[in-house]
Amino acid sequence: MTSFAAKTLPDLFVSFQGLFVFFIILPSVFPFDSAAFSSSPTGKQVGDEGIQAAALLTWKASLDSQSQSLLSSWVIGSNHCNWTGIGCKTVGTIITHIDLKSYGLRGTLSNLNFSSLSNLLSLDLTNNSLHGIIPSSIDRLWRLTYLSFSANRLSGSIPHEICQLSNLKTLKLHQNQIGGTIPYEIGLLISLVELTLHSNNLTSSIPSSIGNLVNMTTLILNENHLSGSIPEEVGMMRSLIDLELSANNLTGLIPASMGNLLNLTTLLLCENNLFGSIPPQLSNLTLLRSLGLDDNMLTGHLPENLCLTGSLRLFTASYNNLSGRIPRSLKNCSSLYRLRLEGNQLSGNISEDFGIYPNLNYIDLTGNNFYGELSPRWGKCNNLKSLEMSNNNISGEIPPALLEAAKLSRIDLSSNHLDGEIPKEFGSLVSLFNLKLNDNQLSCNIPRELGRLVNLQNLNLAANKLSGSIPRELADCMRLLNLILSNNRLGDIIPLELGQLHGLEILDLGNNIFLGPIPQQFGALQRLETLNVSHNSLSGFLPSSFDNLVSLSSVDISYNQLEGELPHIKAFREAPFESLQGNKGLCGNATSLKACQLQGVSRNKENKLVLLVLPVFGFLVLSFMVLGFFLSFHKKVKCTTNEPRHVNNTNLFAIWSYDGKMVYEDIIEATENFSAKYCVGKGGCGTVYRVAVPNGQVVAVKKLHGSSDGNSDNRKDFAKAVELDWRKRVDVAKGLADALYCMHHGCSTPIIHRDISSKNVLFDSEYVAHISDFGMARFMKPDSSNWTSFAGTFGYAAPELAYTMEVNEKCDVYSFGVLTLEVIMGKHPGDLISSLSSSSSSSSSGHAILLKDVLDQRLPSPTNQVAEQVLVAAKVAFACLNASPMPRPTMQQVAWKLSKTRPSLQIEFHLITLGELLDTNFFTS
Ligand SMILES: *[C@@H]1O[C@H](CO)[C@@H](O)[C@H](O)[C@H]1NC(C)=O
Ligand SMILES: *[C@@H]1O[C@H](CO)[C@@H](O)[C@H](O)[C@H]1NC(C)=O
Ligand SMILES: *[C@@H]1O[C@H](CO)[C@@H](O)[C@H](O)[C@H]1NC(C)=O
Ligand SMILES: *[C@@H]1O[C@H](CO)[C@@H](O)[C@H](O)[C@H]1NC(C)=O
Repeated sequence: MTSFAAKTLPDLFVSFQGLFVFFIILPSVFPFDSAAFSSSPTGKQVGDEGIQAAALLTWKASLDSQSQSLLSSWVIGSNHCNWTGIGCKTVGTIITHIDLKSYGLRGTLSNLNFSSLSNLLSLDLTNNSLHGIIPSSIDRLWRLTYLSFSANRLSGSIPHEICQLSNLKTLKLHQNQIGGTIPYEIGLLISLVELTLHSNNLTSSIPSSIGNLVNMTTLILNENHLSGSIPEEVGMMRSLIDLELSANNLTGLIPASMGNLLNLTTLLLCENNLFGSIPPQLSNLTLLRSLGLDDNMLTGHLPENLCLTGSLRLFTASYNNLSGRIPRSLKNCSSLYRLRLEGNQLSGNISEDFGIYPNLNYIDLTGNNFYGELSPRWGKCNNLKSLEMSNNNISGEIPPALLEAAKLSRIDLSSNHLDGEIPKEFGSLVSLFNLKLNDNQLSCNIPRELGRLVNLQNLNLAANKLSGSIPRELADCMRLLNLILSNNRLGDIIPLELGQLHGLEILDLGNNIFLGPIPQQFGALQRLETLNVSHNSLSGFLPSSFDNLVSLSSVDISYNQLEGELPHIKAFREAPFESLQGNKGLCGNATSLKACQLQGVSRNKENKLVLLVLPVFGFLVLSFMVLGFFLSFHKKVKCTTNEPRHVNNTNLFAIWSYDGKMVYEDIIEATENFSAKYCVGKGGCGTVYRVAVPNGQVVAVKKLHGSSDGNSDNRKDFAKAVELDWRKRVDVAKGLADALYCMHHGCSTPIIHRDISSKNVLFDSEYVAHISDFGMARFMKPDSSNWTSFAGTFGYAAPELAYTMEVNEKCDVYSFGVLTLEVIMGKHPGDLISSLSSSSSSSSSGHAILLKDVLDQRLPSPTNQVAEQVLVAAKVAFACLNASPMPRPTMQQVAWKLSKTRPSLQIEFHLITLGELLDTNFFTS
């Protein structure tokens, strides 16, 4: 034999020579023709070992070259008992085991001569790439107890010859493409313990002969096309532990005889066409851990005594027509790990019928008729990750204690009758990635604590009664893909920070009362596919940055007051008329619109100087801005405020200014301590009053989060100096910038405030300047015949107002600069400004002043990211204080600069001088 062990020859050649030699040895037994091996008798003794090796080498030669190299140890001359995957009897060279599981072998079984391997006890070719049929000669392996061809690409049908292998204990053919029927003769395999035929294309019915297989513990027939009913004889397989018949076309009733299968721990009958009721006999199955009945046509009630012994972990009966209540035994089933009952007509009071399950990981009761309230006790379901109860009749509030189930990552309570507020405790569910509360009657604000949900991907709060503004903290949910807030009463401007949500794919803010412009920053939403801002009060021009929205495929901006040229992208060009209609004056290249008259003009209109101004009462404009609140007000809903950090809770109404107290007292007086007779509207969380202040102006004042009868405590606390930390101060600057940005750039006619100063900026209890809270404003309008007289406040007015009556938005920018400095210095910056402007050269003493020395000394120096933000705010402020209007930035630039999140400060904050802040390139770099 050694003469044939020429290692350098190709394997094919070696194998061929090997065969040739054996042919010589056994000329009378093996007539050498192509059918020789399959038709040979089961020769046993003479030269067995040579025959075995030859059979394997022949098969090896039939495999593809890569497979052959994997079997490189299979060479003539070496002891085949040492070959990869081959096992022999302890004594001798008779092959009893072939284990080539997961070798990636490619080829067929047709060249494997089973006759030559008749001593095999186990043959495991699991998880290879074998194709073709299972040869009928398989019956030659009559000693086999273990046979697995699973996870290959075998086709054809199960040869009934396989049923001659009467010693088989395990037969695994799952995950192939085997069709045909399960042979009736399968009942002959009486030693069978494990039969897995799942994930094939088997048809016809399960043979009743299967009842003979009394030693069978595992029968898995999932994912075939088996039809007919489940044979009653299945109840005879009393050793069964695991019976899985899911995903077939089985019909008829669930045999009551299954109640005899007392050893069953797993019974899966999902995704069939079974009908009738669940046999009560299933309650006998006291060892049952998994019971899957979903996706059938089962009717009637859930079995009364499931889980009597407390072993049931998984129970799914979703998508049937089951009715009635959750049985008591299931309510007390503390072993439950996964419960799916969605898509039935189950009913009952959920808070009574649903227990506390310490192990529960997943519950889905979607689409039933459950009513009652969410129980705070479910917060004790410590392992709960998924809570889905949408489309029921559940009412009442969401109990904050429910959200103590800290592992919750998916919550869907949509389409119920929930009311009250969205608890801020949602913010503590750090794992939450899916939160759907849409289609309820939830009211009040969206809690800003949701901004802590850094893993949140889907947030759907649509179709509720939510009011207030979108908390800018939502922009911290950096993983958001879908943000759906449509059909609420949300208002104010859209926070430009949302432009930081770079992964956002769907943004639906439709049918709310949002004001102002669509933020320029949305141009950064590179992955945005769907944008719906329809049915709002948005105004101004579509941001030119929208030309960057390359992924956008669906857009709806209808029914706003938008105008100007459409962005030059496909989504707008091809938008249907319905998605653009109802606006003020859109033009562009869309099929349904008229072309723009002069390219470029429309988008620049906002920058025109406003020469003619007319003082009008702020009230007119303000009442427009808060109109949405009036219209949406139906019933008085008591909203709690987000607790202001570090600040006395009773300070409901604060004004930033040394003379704020005076303004406040004017308001108190003018409204007779917030008497109802001056109330012009109530919002979800605030009340708006019409106030005629002593100098004759009429303004609207929105009192936030307070009781409408006014409370002297508010007043007492108000005069106190307000302790604002650095973060809040930066937020104040941001809020002002957003508000002015909206006024300057968001409306078709820029509204120039002209009198930004500390005495007329109102803040809510969270120190956020809302656009609707610009209480003391006088608004300017072009196209009128009056020139203005000097109306600014000394110390805040831009220098040019002293020598020209020409008013443009850059005077607001100047005032904004003053105010921002005041916010961070804690006092009016008049002296500082004059010292800096009088010292014209950069070597002057003013430029050498350290920034840290001019900051409000009542607070410790800012650190880290906040220090960076303070620095940016200071730089922005100085840029705004440019003596000539032209070089001052626009509010759009200012708002954008302030909204950017930045890494922590690298430089030494305490060494920065004011001179360094006067960076003329700050806005161009
Ligand atoms: C069934 O199992 C029992 C107990 O293990 C055994 O005694 C019996 O021989 C088995 N029956 C067959 C047909 O293998
Ligand atoms: C569900 O609620 C609706 C309206 O509240 C009510 O008409 C209906 O009867 C309720 N259904 C059930 C099954 O309680
Ligand atoms: C549901 O059950 C709880 C507890 O018994 C009860 O307080 C509540 O009123 C019930 N709800 C309804 C809608 O019947
Ligand atoms: C946009 O939202 C509104 C309000 O929810 C809705 O009516 C409209 O169908 C939506 N547009 C599109 C294109 O889906």
